[in-house]
Amino acid sequence: MKKVLVIGSGGREHAIVDALSRSQKVGKIYCAPGNAGIAAMAECVPLKETQVEQLKDFAAENGIDLTVVGPEAALAAGISDTFTQAGLRIFGPSKAAATIESSKDFAKRLMARYGIPTAAFETFDDYGKAIEYVGKGQFPVVLKYDGLAAGKGVVIPETLEEADAALKDMLLDARFGKGKVVVEEFLTGPEFSFMCFVDGTQVTPMTLSQDHKRAYEGDKGPNTGGMGAYSPVPIITDEDIEYSLEHIMKPTAAAMVAEGCPFKGVLYGGLMKTPSGVKVIEFNCRFGDPETEVVLPRLESDIYDIFSSIADSTPMPETIWSKDVTMGFVMASKGYPGSYGKGYAITGLEDAMADKSVRIYHMGTSSQDGSIVTSGGRVLMVVGSADTLQNAHDKALEAVGKIGCENLFFRRDIGWRVL
Ligand code: AMP
Ligand code: GLY
Repeated sequence: MKKVLVIGSGGREHAIVDALSRSQKVGKIYCAPGNAGIAAMAECVPLKETQVEQLKDFAAENGIDLTVVGPEAALAAGISDTFTQAGLRIFGPSKAAATIESSKDFAKRLMARYGIPTAAFETFDDYGKAIEYVGKGQFPVVLKYDGLAAGKGVVIPETLEEADAALKDMLLDARFGKGKVVVEEFLTGPEFSFMCFVDGTQVTPMTLSQDHKRAYEGDKGPNTGGMGAYSPVPIITDEDIEYSLEHIMKPTAAAMVAEGCPFKGVLYGGLMKTPSGVKVIEFNCRFGDPETEVVLPRLESDIYDIFSSIADSTPMPETIWSKDVTMGFVMASKGYPGSYGKGYAITGLEDAMADKSVRIYHMGTSSQDGSIVTSGGRVLMVVGSADTLQNAHDKALEAVGKIGCENLFFRRDIGWRVL
């Protein structure tokens, strides 16, 4: 039986650990650093996701057969390169390939060069030139900081004054560090998340999901990491999926090979169905969070075999998806995505999970004196599985109602586009 190490501490990693625990091949799962929910399924290792050298030593000393990387920060820190150089098997792209997420400018230039459909754009490092360009264009306009900014690097100003403040913040005050800003055309339409297992030019699609980025009901309030998701996405047709695979995901994988940075891992297409066709909003170099929590429970194939085939560059096995559909609600700390308190006790988890078609993935929890307490912005992802999205919705909401915590809020309207 294989020993697997999962890197990360959120709901995404909890869902990866859960999928690995269903594998016939996997005997022991470690997770670094993990969280209070993951601790019930895996042995948590007190190493942070970016402690690359220590993680490598841990994997070597403990005979880990395969390491699976969740978060982008570990990939951008070069964890795959370090492990590969040490002869350790790892699932996750190299630092060079992770640039597709860590640099918006790299991703946009790649798409422009290879004819992959996306919003028109210009990149600036000079505040004066950027504000002049924005002043001549239309509103709303999309401004994206060219680097990792923990989901806070995108602003969509409605007026020149708002745009000016955001550009000053990013280019003059260097809020996220010294860097460039991509100015993008504003597109409209429903968004969806298309994650694919990729190994060079081999691309195996996962079932679709849809996230809800805004903090409050009615898609109002600030952007977050995501407040809920469901899978599949019935408003996206089979033709849209075929188009997205053939004209976006496969050409992007091929472009990465042509550019000398072949992608191995999960390529996440954040796509939008605009009136003029499906276009790329962003690429990520990893599983989405909370999308993974609704997608992986539907995977019937052995995930260890998929991860292994990519780590070893052997042909990927077939992926089979359950007909049961999923919907999940994020319970987040009051104040998120701004500042929030931690350490609030959570009760009722056992009762909420008594129904076997409910899964609760921990996003930001820890153990304190024998009880589970909040320790992050997003705290729990409560997922229901059922024959229809409406039933999955009802199951998940019923479970949410059983969870007690004075400092959590959630959006009741997850799935509004399809229910
Ligand atoms: P990103 O981090 O690039 O995914 O952007 C965060 C969110 O901003 C996306 O999920 C969209 O809702 C929105 N967004 C980004 N780019 C555009 C665009 N070109 N047009 C409209 N909305 C956008
Ligand atoms: N839920 C969006 C992301 O993972 O980037």
